[in-house]
Amino acid sequence: MPQQVRGVVARAKGQPVSVETIVVPDPGPGEVVVRVQSCGVCHTDLHYREGGINDEFPFLLGHEAAGIVETVGDGVTDVAPGDFVILNWRAVCGTCRACLKGKPWYCFNTHNAAQPMTLEDGTKLSNALGIGAFVEKTLVHSGQCTKVDPTASPAAVGLLGCGVMAGIGAAVNTGGVGRGDSVAVIGCGGVGDAAIAGSRLAGATTIIAVDVDDRKLQWAKGIGATHTVNAKSADPVAAIQELTGGFGADVVIDAVGRPETWKQAFYARDLAGTVVLVGVPTPDMRIELPLIDFFGRGGALKSSWYGDCLPSRDFPYLVDLYRQGRLDLDAFVSETIALDQVEEAFTKMHHGDVLRSVVVF
Ligand SMILES: NC(=O)c1ccc[n+]([C@@H]2O[C@H](COP(=O)([O-])OP(=O)(O)OC[C@H]3O[C@@H](n4cnc5c(N)ncnc54)[C@H](O)[C@@H]3O)[C@@H](O)[C@H]2O)c1
Ligand SMILES: [Zn+2]
Ligand SMILES: [Zn+2]
Repeated sequence: MPQQVRGVVARAKGQPVSVETIVVPDPGPGEVVVRVQSCGVCHTDLHYREGGINDEFPFLLGHEAAGIVETVGDGVTDVAPGDFVILNWRAVCGTCRACLKGKPWYCFNTHNAAQPMTLEDGTKLSNALGIGAFVEKTLVHSGQCTKVDPTASPAAVGLLGCGVMAGIGAAVNTGGVGRGDSVAVIGCGGVGDAAIAGSRLAGATTIIAVDVDDRKLQWAKGIGATHTVNAKSADPVAAIQELTGGFGADVVIDAVGRPETWKQAFYARDLAGTVVLVGVPTPDMRIELPLIDFFGRGGALKSSWYGDCLPSRDFPYLVDLYRQGRLDLDAFVSETIALDQVEEAFTKMHHGDVLRSVVVF
C-alpha cells in the first residue's frame, strides 16, 4: 500500500516552501523505502527553490540524509530492512563509458528510483538530486543507500550525503591536496568548511579560509583553517599570495560559485596550481579572461561534482574517522530543526547564521 507522509515541497520559483502530504509508493524492483532520521539543509536546496537548477517544479527538497531502511523491493540484496544508511546521489551504473573506464565517480547514468513520489492529487514530484529527503519516508534506488556504522549520529553523518562529502572530496579527490600543500578555500559555509577539514586530514600545512562574514571565518578556524581573510576588508588574491610566500596557493577551492570568486581562485593559485570549482553557478553566469593567463600559468582548472566521491568507498571510512574523533562532523550541525522550519533555515543560511540546519524526525 502506498504510504502518505509529510514532506517539504517547493511549488514555484522563489516562493516559500510548504509542508505537504506526499504519497510514497511501495518499493518496486531495485527500490527501497527509507525512514528518514535526519536531513541537512544544503544551499543546493535553495538553488532549486530559486529555479537556479531547472524548472521542473514542484520539487521535493532535501538530499543530505540518513535513515533506516524500512522495506525493499524485488531483487534488492545490498541492503535489508533495519540497516542504517546514508543516502547518496551517486548510485553508479557500472556499465556507462565512465564506469567501464574504471572511473565510476564520473558515472553518467546514476540510478534513482523508477517510480515517482507524488502529491495527494497525483502530481509527480521532482526529487532534489534524485533523492527528496525532507520527508518522513522516501523512495530511492537501493544503490542510493550506503550502509554505515549504526552507532553514529544521523544528524552528523547524514551530512556526508552531500555538502560535507562535496567539500572533503573537492580537496582530497578533485584537488589532490596532499601533505605540506597550501590550500585556500573561498566561501566557508558547510561545503567550504568541509574542504578545510579535508585539507587538514590530507596533511595541508597552510589552509587559508576566505569569507565575507567574520563569524564564518571564526568557525573555519575551529575546523582547521590556519589563516583567515575577510574578502570585504582585504583583496583575497593579494592576501593569499602574501600568506604563501608571494606565490599563491597550490590548490584554491571556490565553494561559492560566482564569476568573481572563481576569478579570485584563478589568480590566487601558484603557477601550475589547481583551481577546484565546487560552488554551483547559475546558468546566466559568464567568465571572461585573457586566454594567455590560462596558458601561461599551467596547472589545472577543475570542477567537482559531489567531491568526485564514491559513496561505497568514502562514506564508511569518513564515518570511522568521525567515530575516532578525527573528523568533527558535529561541528557542522549548527542546529536541529523540525520539518516545518526549512523555510526559516533558508533565511538563516542566507544571513550566514548557520553552517547546517539539520531536520531531525
Ligand atoms: N559541487 C557539489 O557537488 C556541491 C554539493 C553541495 C553544495 N554545492 C554548492 O556549494 C556552494 C556552497 O554551499 P553551502 O551549503 O556551503 O552554502 P552556504 O550558503 O552555507 O555557504 C556559502 C558561503 O560563501 C560565503 N560567501 C558568499 N559570497 C562570498 C564572496 N564573494 N566571497 C567569499 N565568501 C562568500 C558566505 O558568507 C557563506 O559562508 C553552493 O553553491 C552549493 O550549491 C555544491
Ligand atoms: Zn556508470
Ligand atoms: Zn547538497
